[in-house]
Amino acid sequence: MTNPSLLILPGDGIGQEVMAEVRKVIDWIGAKRDVTFDVSEDLVGGAAYDEHGVPLADETMAKAQEVDAVLLGAVGGPQYDDLDFSVKPERGLLRLRKEMDLFANLRPAQCFDALADFSSLKKDIVSGLDIMIVRELTSGVYFGEPRGISEVDGQRVGVNTQRYTEAEIERGARAAFELAMKRDKRLCSMEKANVMESGILWRDVVTEVSKDYPEVELSHMYADNGAMQLVRAPKQFDVIYTDNLFGDILSDCAAMLTGSLGMLPSASLGAPMENGRPKAMYEPVHGSAPDIAGEGKANPCACILSFAMALRYSFDMGAEADRLEAAVEKVLADGVRTGDLLNEAGVKPATTSEMGNAVIAALDASL
Ligand code: NAD
Ligand code: IPM
Ligand code: MN
Repeated sequence: MTNPSLLILPGDGIGQEVMAEVRKVIDWIGAKRDVTFDVSEDLVGGAAYDEHGVPLADETMAKAQEVDAVLLGAVGGPQYDDLDFSVKPERGLLRLRKEMDLFANLRPAQCFDALADFSSLKKDIVSGLDIMIVRELTSGVYFGEPRGISEVDGQRVGVNTQRYTEAEIERGARAAFELAMKRDKRLCSMEKANVMESGILWRDVVTEVSKDYPEVELSHMYADNGAMQLVRAPKQFDVIYTDNLFGDILSDCAAMLTGSLGMLPSASLGAPMENGRPKAMYEPVHGSAPDIAGEGKANPCACILSFAMALRYSFDMGAEADRLEAAVEKVLADGVRTGDLLNEAGVKPATTSEMGNAVIAALDASL
């Protein structure tokens, strides 16, 4: 049997720092659990632009199509702000998502007990929280045509188009209903059917798909109300299914329910490959955090937990995923925290690397 293959794309800023900690976990699994991953590493985002003049080289794209899973750190940074739009770091990430056709972006927001006190919301509102946002990832206003900036009647006009086909809404909905079936069997679909035709179609198609999942209780909510409800009473939700842009915003909002954006992992899944597993890329929800990059302050948990999702969804190693998640939870419970998870003056935060080492120690202790 061939080894499972993994393409690592650390990217920019803290992407590089948090990925170094995931490397430790991969090595630990190789040494202690006897599963050797064929790991290759390449450039994406600003790092790829610096080397090749494009944010994702064709060879890297081809490699991503071949491996069992891609693990990405983060892309972007202020030094790339003035680049032509077509070569901005973010275009590299969007190309990966689009060309791999990773339409279902799973963004779980779970509040670990140890962090319930830390959230900016009251403890009883977030404690025990476990929700799953399914964000449609390859269509909508991120990719719709026409788009661009042009000159009309003597002034510049910026255009983006929200466009969804039935098939696009349907395949994401099926992924969301399948997840709901394995969870608490409740799905809330969020759009703005009150003002957008794409929202009307969204609601129609999701309702149609729900007939195949009679056990799942379906509700619909306008996305603006959804944002408010996420902060007011987030535990009312189980699975949320929403479009590309609303999903981007709502998942950053959900991140703070868990204590920090540095805690939120994600899996971007496509259609099954020949081996029956989905095409997949795993990445933390956060970005390259230029304000703390290079200082050893980044929380590596989101990236480590993204690798746990890879173990679960791409490598059939659910028990190892559970072990890794439990190790992260234990480290937090033991009080090892990066600065984003501390608010007591005088408490010394752990560095990115100390946090990663603590996770390895907890993995050792789990054997
Ligand atoms: P960001 O997520 O990089 O940072 C937002 C805030 O959260 C910052 O204060 C940052 O310090 C903090 N933060 C984020 N991750 C953290 C972590 N792991 N540990 C501790 N603190 C953390 O968002 P931004 O500042 O709006 O964007 C910066 C750059 O990242 C931009 O170029 C943006 O396009 C890019 N970005 C990339 C991705 C991605 O690669 N998936 C996601 C979001 C933003
Ligand atoms: C995310 C990011 C990306 C998005 C950017 C960097 C392209 O914010 O993954 O949440 O908008 O999807
Ligand atoms: Mn985002």
